[in-house]
Amino acid sequence: MDAIDCIKSRMSIRAFKPEPVPQELLKEIIEAAKWSPSYKNTQPWEVMVVSGAKKAALSTMMVELLEGGEEPAPDLTAPVSWPPAQETRIAHLFKRRCEETGINLADPKVARTSKIVNFKFYKAPHAVYLFQDNSLSQWSLFDLGLFAQSLMLAAHANGLGTVPQAFATDYARQIKAFLSIPGSKRLVLGLSLGFPDMDSPANKFRTDRVPTEELVSWVE
Ligand SMILES: Cc1cc2nc3c(=O)[nH]c(=O)nc-3n(C[C@H](O)[C@H](O)[C@H](O)COP(=O)(O)O)c2cc1C
Repeated sequence: MDAIDCIKSRMSIRAFKPEPVPQELLKEIIEAAKWSPSYKNTQPWEVMVVSGAKKAALSTMMVELLEGGEEPAPDLTAPVSWPPAQETRIAHLFKRRCEETGINLADPKVARTSKIVNFKFYKAPHAVYLFQDNSLSQWSLFDLGLFAQSLMLAAHANGLGTVPQAFATDYARQIKAFLSIPGSKRLVLGLSLGFPDMDSPANKFRTDRVPTEELVSWVE
């Protein structure tokens, strides 16, 4: 697969085969992702792969927190509102997803079920957490985003699937305590990772993108 094909064919995977990914392969994709660029080569990324019984217990804890009425408190504040362009794109995504998969994320009950599915990492065999020191600047968050995309592309190039999940950081304090991640770190992103189950209807839905003319200006 060439780089362009890899970028264009990656998609969020929301159904996985149960088989775990060999640790050698997990290591290989992390080793590829670490070649991402970063501000002054600071490499402000730390990665934790959570599997097996620990992952199951983590999911249980998050579901229990939700069911106990605990308010989400991610280290990166969830957006409360969006500018009109993004608002329109979210509405478009929700509408298409509802029409094509029957999942209506605008319905609070469905959104809650979706959270639980998120907390169970879509039954993927691995949860991956990306974090960094909380004193780092916004540029380091940007760098971690680059790392995340590299990780997802390296996974995809190796026949693996991922979905990045802000929701997986909802209970940042409790998750960090559970995973022995120091409180001085910010938990930026969780990802589900495993072999994709491409027969699942969950993986039939493909998002679209705005036309290129809407995002680029050519200046001479
Ligand atoms: C920072 C970030 C947070 C996301 N959080 C979630 C999430 O919590 N749950 C989820 O199912 N998808 C999540 N997504 C996946 C997006 O919905 C998805 O990337 C977007 O709809 C585009 O679809 P694609 O990844 O299939 O191209 C997140 C994506 C990003 C980049």
